[in-house]
Amino acid sequence: MRLIPFALLLLTGAIQAAEAPAPVAPTPTAAMHEAAALYKQHCQSCHGAQRFGAAGPALLPESLGRIKPAEVRAVIRDGRPASQMTGYSELLDASQIDALVDYLYQPAATAPVWKTPDIRASHKILADLASLPSTPQHDADPLNLFVVVEAGDHHVTILDGDTFDPLTRFASHFALHGGPKFSPDGRFVYFASRDGWISLYDLHNLRMIAEVRVGLNTRNLAVSNDGRWVLVGNYLPGNLVVLDARDLSLVKIIPTLGQDGSASRVSAVYTAPPRDSFVVALKDVQEVWELSYAGEPDFQPRRIVAKDYLDDFSFTPDYRYLLATSRKAGGGQVIDLDGGEPVASIELPGMPHLGSGIYWKRNGHWVFATPNISTGLISVIDLQTWKLITEIPTAGPGFFMRSHANSPYAWTDVFFGPNNDQVLLIDKQTLKVAHTLRPMPGKNAAHVEFTHDGRYALLSVWDRDGALIVYDSQTLEEVKRIPMNKPSGKYNVGNKIEFAEGTSH
Ligand code: HEC
Repeated sequence: MRLIPFALLLLTGAIQAAEAPAPVAPTPTAAMHEAAALYKQHCQSCHGAQRFGAAGPALLPESLGRIKPAEVRAVIRDGRPASQMTGYSELLDASQIDALVDYLYQPAATAPVWKTPDIRASHKILADLASLPSTPQHDADPLNLFVVVEAGDHHVTILDGDTFDPLTRFASHFALHGGPKFSPDGRFVYFASRDGWISLYDLHNLRMIAEVRVGLNTRNLAVSNDGRWVLVGNYLPGNLVVLDARDLSLVKIIPTLGQDGSASRVSAVYTAPPRDSFVVALKDVQEVWELSYAGEPDFQPRRIVAKDYLDDFSFTPDYRYLLATSRKAGGGQVIDLDGGEPVASIELPGMPHLGSGIYWKRNGHWVFATPNISTGLISVIDLQTWKLITEIPTAGPGFFMRSHANSPYAWTDVFFGPNNDQVLLIDKQTLKVAHTLRPMPGKNAAHVEFTHDGRYALLSVWDRDGALIVYDSQTLEEVKRIPMNKPSGKYNVGNKIEFAEGTSH
């Protein structure tokens, strides 16, 4: 239906063009040609000849998909504060900037490739692990450290979870993505950046060990439960990359082709510890893959045909089932990993953010709750019957949700809209909103993580002049406020390596 008015528009345009005098504006190809020349002159030195990124980030349609053209235009005009990206309003006029914006959203002239030699050439060993002590070289409890991602200026802080004092702070690659993951003993943390950089950091010695660029646009990574493998899921090129977890050396590239041979991007990869496997959601073919890492793995995918494309998923507490959604279709599906097939549909309106969903026990039953990116509600599902128990209304669409076995509340944010300064505490038994916090009125409050013992909750205020705020999780009193530039996620080592109840995986 939508094609018809569009075709009509083209037709009238063609008729007008035939009757009107020849337009003075350059044809799109000439404009694109000029934009390419401007790019070469002003931008290529930092963003790379093929727009793959260098000192500056990649500028490909895939990379810019998350920000809107209006923001891209504003960045080119005004720059980004406290970065090498300066504004071009003095050098370029408005039409030149518009042409550059259009150009950046065009696919690259030659299809971008990133292959084995590119990966190998990017691999850097930054410290000799064998010569480093294998015990913590700091006084903090290694299982109560927090890894705090500061999105504003691309840094990471390692925070002592008892004193809430930073142990160290270091620069990360541009735009860390998908949540860092840990080795099973909690010593190592692995980061993925939007532009495909994977970094390995030693929390005992507080130093970077290795890094490698595995793709041009990456979704996220997972670490095997035996600590041997890192699996990365990419959008560009659409594939999976297996790395040796000890030093990030390349083990295998697995193109993500569906049964019929069609190519797919990867939506998400997670580890399923009791199954000794990675589970992979594919975005463009209706399949879920399971890759076993038991014994001497060959990483051949076991394919499960799904009812829909998968954007995101969560596991049940026993890792037998996946709860999965697609943003294209409504609702969700339950996929049985043992049986290898979808077994139920779940009533989920809007765009549930299942990767952030959490579960807990209520009246002896496991329930699962998920925020929703498009509507102000939290859906709560019974994990025995797959039936919706309730929808809890909130003051706007949310993004994250967290709890802890020792906390009576599930904490969730209002992430979008005018009320995005609110954080709601949902009573895990009554399923009603028990408290609403507004930590910094007018500023976006988001993402909560608990200390290992659950006594404190750390909340992010996602603003240039934002903060990390520590609450007593029982009395809800503020204990400490640490100013920070857009602290996004923060991850407690103990909760993460135990795959604790209340934290998403
Ligand atoms: C001196 C190096 C440098 C030059 C030259 C440069 N940039 Fe940048 N650019 C950067 C850096 C660094 C960033 C990341 C800034 C940040 O931390 O957000 C950036 C960010 C951007 C972003 C935002 C990307 C995102 O995903 O958030 C856009 C768009 C951009 N640059 C476009 C351009 C264009 C167009 C030109 C040429 C007119 C240009 N840049 C020239 C270094 C540069």
